[in-house]
Amino acid sequence: MTERIGIVTGGGDCPGLNAVIRAVAKGAAKRNWEAIGFLGGYEGILEPQRYMPLDYNQLSGLLTRGGTILGTANCGRFSAKVNHGESRRLPQELIDGVKAGMQKLGIHGLVSIGGDGSLSIGQQLFEGGVPLVGVPKTIDNDLEGTTLTFGFDSAVACATDALDRLHTTAESHNRVMVLEVMGRYAGWIAIYAGVAGGADVILIPEIPFNYDSICEKIREREGMGKHFTLIIVAEGARENGGHFVTSADQVANREARLGGIAAVVAAEVGKRTGKETRTCVLGHLQRGGCPTNFDRALCSILGAEAVELIAAGKFGYMVAYQGSQTAAVKITEAIGRLKTVPTSGGFVRTARALGISLGD
Ligand code: F6P
Repeated sequence: MTERIGIVTGGGDCPGLNAVIRAVAKGAAKRNWEAIGFLGGYEGILEPQRYMPLDYNQLSGLLTRGGTILGTANCGRFSAKVNHGESRRLPQELIDGVKAGMQKLGIHGLVSIGGDGSLSIGQQLFEGGVPLVGVPKTIDNDLEGTTLTFGFDSAVACATDALDRLHTTAESHNRVMVLEVMGRYAGWIAIYAGVAGGADVILIPEIPFNYDSICEKIREREGMGKHFTLIIVAEGARENGGHFVTSADQVANREARLGGIAAVVAAEVGKRTGKETRTCVLGHLQRGGCPTNFDRALCSILGAEAVELIAAGKFGYMVAYQGSQTAAVKITEAIGRLKTVPTSGGFVRTARALGISLGD
């Protein structure tokens, strides 16, 4: 009988998911294994099962295509995180249901492509007897155990392009422009894009900000004859002693929906400096569209390596990207605590060395 593996995409989508699916399916075909993709996240494994065969000959175009052909979900019965990132246990009947679904289809290994939430679920399934390996995905880059997650580079490219565009219009109108980017409780997108796009102020969750400091930077620039300022703010950034800004009421069994900090910052900065301020919330543009060249390569590597992990029987492990090479790390080493921007690490030091204000 032909051996068969399954693939599942969980959590929020991001550029590169299809490239990983393609790489896993190609790697499987090389070993004469069948690959099937479950639809709609882990739910597709349960009855009534929903899946599609990933035929080697039908994978054309997937390398560059955004989203996921399998669909995904960051809410519902398989969501691992609630409120501000608190973990949730999976009921035993769901674990049993996944095990039964895998056995029914004769699947000997499951590739779970996901971030902290989906891999936390993956770990619980693994502990419950499901042979599973992980591939680290998230635009937020907040997963431990890997230097980079795929999707992050594409999100940074999008945010950097937005800063470039805001730069010219800010300069034309002598305005303060505030760009809000995603990232949940980590400032990776903001700090990478902020440095790459020449922001004057970068506000990240790891460094609470104060308005005096931001306004001082704007006045300093005015004094130098620069009558415009670019501020990039991570959605999870907050004023020293302040609360997270959310864009919707808390829904039971879901993570808080962050958003709206750009408008808050712009209003206060405008009031204090008398400058015209405008905001731009980049939102899901950061998650859509095709992956960057780097992400395409990274996804291909991670997908191919995931197949190797299954072949080696290294279940409960995730493929990690560490510097210029990959490694197998236990999923338990990646989940549970977020990888945040080190406040005295290289990127923060670089930003300060360039005269960028971090709002502190
Ligand atoms: O985790 C990825 C992410 O895009 C975060 O950066 C953002 O806070 C969240 O998902 C948005 O989720 P949703 O698509 O449910 O609004």
